[in-house]
Amino acid sequence: MFLIKDKEFEPARFRRDIVGIKHKVPTLRKKRLQYINFDNAASTPALHPVLHEINDFLGWYSGVHRGTGYKSLLSSQVYDNCHEIAGKFVKADMDNDTVIMLKNTTEAINKLSYRLALTTGDIVISTVMEHHSNDLPWRRHKRVEYAGVNQQGQLNLLDVEAKLRHNYPKVKLLTVCGASNVTGHLNPIHDLAEMAHEYQAKILVDAAQLIPHQPIDMKPAANPRHIDYLAFSGHKLYAPFGSGVLIGPKSTFLKGAPEYTGGGTVSMVTSKDIYWGGLPDREEAGSPNVIGAFALAQTIKYLQKLDMQKLAQYEDDLTHYAWNEILKLPGVKMYGAFPRVGVITFNLAGIGHSLLGSILCYESGIGVRTGCFCAQPYVRKLLEIDENQEKVSAYLEQNPAQLPGMVRISLAAYNTKSEIDRLMNSLKTIIASKGQYKRNYRFSESHGHYVPKCSQPLKLQPVHN
Ligand code: ALA
Repeated sequence: MFLIKDKEFEPARFRRDIVGIKHKVPTLRKKRLQYINFDNAASTPALHPVLHEINDFLGWYSGVHRGTGYKSLLSSQVYDNCHEIAGKFVKADMDNDTVIMLKNTTEAINKLSYRLALTTGDIVISTVMEHHSNDLPWRRHKRVEYAGVNQQGQLNLLDVEAKLRHNYPKVKLLTVCGASNVTGHLNPIHDLAEMAHEYQAKILVDAAQLIPHQPIDMKPAANPRHIDYLAFSGHKLYAPFGSGVLIGPKSTFLKGAPEYTGGGTVSMVTSKDIYWGGLPDREEAGSPNVIGAFALAQTIKYLQKLDMQKLAQYEDDLTHYAWNEILKLPGVKMYGAFPRVGVITFNLAGIGHSLLGSILCYESGIGVRTGCFCAQPYVRKLLEIDENQEKVSAYLEQNPAQLPGMVRISLAAYNTKSEIDRLMNSLKTIIASKGQYKRNYRFSESHGHYVPKCSQPLKLQPVHN
């Protein structure tokens, strides 16, 4: 069914496969404009060939692992196979590891934070550059030490090593992002794995931002550079259908009880006892998201037919192009360094991040994200803000007009240089207006963002294109 031949990545063809790529959106100008999505770090769009596969499969879909009918048996086989496809995509050690289908990376990390069964005295080493989803779950029960970053926001590997050494043998886990959702910085995950293993700790890689950009190889369990635990989301990998993945050693999940219990998790239940089922079933309580898992597996199969290295190269060229163009703007401040995946954050002098995001939406039909990107400690660090001097009330009121932040453009393999050129034209016009746009917008508490003063906020509804 898929139209991609082996080992090919052709940007124009990939772009044609993106659902909604031709959609035009209303703006304050008379005509609608073709939408530019520069918010891929939040979520990537779906792929047409995968939609076709889902459509075909839906007629065969039925509940899994319970029914005796043909459709049930078929759906169960398809669903079980999705785990293998996801595991093999990241070269998990399938003899040693289990692949658990969940909602997203956040759920996966929360699950692991329960299932590692850490006790008082155990230490988790995280980093300053983590998304809240790879930070808050670890704060719940245990002591967390945060490895620092340098001024550009790159992870300080010496600090990681020092923290492992200083806290040996209490450190049970080192948890790091594969790539940052704020700067796109890439962490040397296999060097970090080796470091963690030297100190008898395990490593978790939050691969949410890495998985759409580069091939991942967890490596066999016997290799000191292997990744013990890996978490990623389908919705960052062109599969926005509600499935995410946690991979880790079976031994972790065979100990103790799952944090969610109920249907599908057990072999035997008596009025007094529970005998847990096998893996991954005991970790996937309730009827699973079969269609979500199927969509993720089909998307992976699609991506496996591309040359991911070639895709990474294309994105890298695009990222350098965007970086160099934005850097030319007067009054721009850009964050981070290279190497990075296609995530670029910046601020323009004299215009707040939140207002700039709204202007790009209302005037130019361009989607970006602004603020702290669920990584407040990291963004504060990059902005050189002392959290002790910040007003908590601004956060409680959630008024982005008063909060620190940045503008983020996050690229994917279907974006183009001409889209970046359109962004640049918009930014130049905004800068040249010398504050006119600023006067034309007001912060709307009811909308939670800036809206134009002189017209109604855009009517939000799918537009017939
Ligand atoms: N973590 C996602 C982002 O950075 C939602 O936008």
